[in-house]
Amino acid sequence: MSDLDLTGITVRFGGHTALNDVHLTVQSNSITGLIGPNGAGKTTLFNVTSGLLKPNEGSVRFNNELMTDLSPYRRAKLGLGRTFQRLELFPSLSVEENIQVAAEIRGEWFPSSLGTSSVISSVQQVMKLTGLDSIASKSVAEIPTGKARLVELARTVVQGPSMLLLDEPASGQNENETEEFAQILKILNTEGITILLVEHDMSLVMDVCDKVFVLDFGTLIADGTTDEIQNNPVVIDAYLGGANG
Ligand SMILES: Nc1ncnc2c1ncn2[C@@H]1O[C@H](COP(=O)(O)OP(=O)(O)OP(=O)(O)O)[C@@H](O)[C@H]1O
Ligand SMILES: [Mg+2]
Repeated sequence: MSDLDLTGITVRFGGHTALNDVHLTVQSNSITGLIGPNGAGKTTLFNVTSGLLKPNEGSVRFNNELMTDLSPYRRAKLGLGRTFQRLELFPSLSVEENIQVAAEIRGEWFPSSLGTSSVISSVQQVMKLTGLDSIASKSVAEIPTGKARLVELARTVVQGPSMLLLDEPASGQNENETEEFAQILKILNTEGITILLVEHDMSLVMDVCDKVFVLDFGTLIADGTTDEIQNNPVVIDAYLGGANG
């Protein structure tokens, strides 16, 4: 069984085809990478998957359920979490309050599951896992981007997703922060969360991913293991030759 199946996804913005007949499957419990140059269509694919954008063609299935016409919140309720490339936090609230807001939304969705014993279900547990407990009362406006990325991750994790779509989550993090971030992703994955990771930091992608898809100009040009992708001349030519890491 796969967690996510995208079939024949095409998105056009006026005369520009941002995604062209994309087929992509994310296996349950994997960490799958989605890489490619700027403008390749990665964020557009996330928008289609999370329901912010309706594709011109194609379908989205999550746990074998057709979701193409579901609203974003219905998809979130079914277990699909996402973060944003451009941070979308509440800057006037503290770190803890930002996460608390998401936890309260989850509480409204699933009143009976409040107080569940899952390792990552409470605000305190998620803050501990991400190391944010040490800056819990700081205003989000005051913390560096690397930490704000963790707040966005924590806010999504506290909603109890079975799958996370992460859009350049390490952007703005230094090398140490990215290494810690890789460990957090591995723990989340061990806890049963499937991850689809869009990232330009190739050392992170190659460290954590089981499998990688490569987009270029809206078309999938390759997929394979990290070794296969790193040694694929088409991928090196289109992207890796110029990417960092
Ligand atoms: N709302 C929109 N209206 C018009 N064009 C758009 C819109 N959103 C994205 N595009 C275009 O679609 C293409 C894909 O954009 P997208 O943001 O998905 O790329 P990306 O792979 O996420 O790039 P990056 O690595 O820079 O984040 C680009 O050419 C972009 O300019
Ligand atoms: Mg993007």
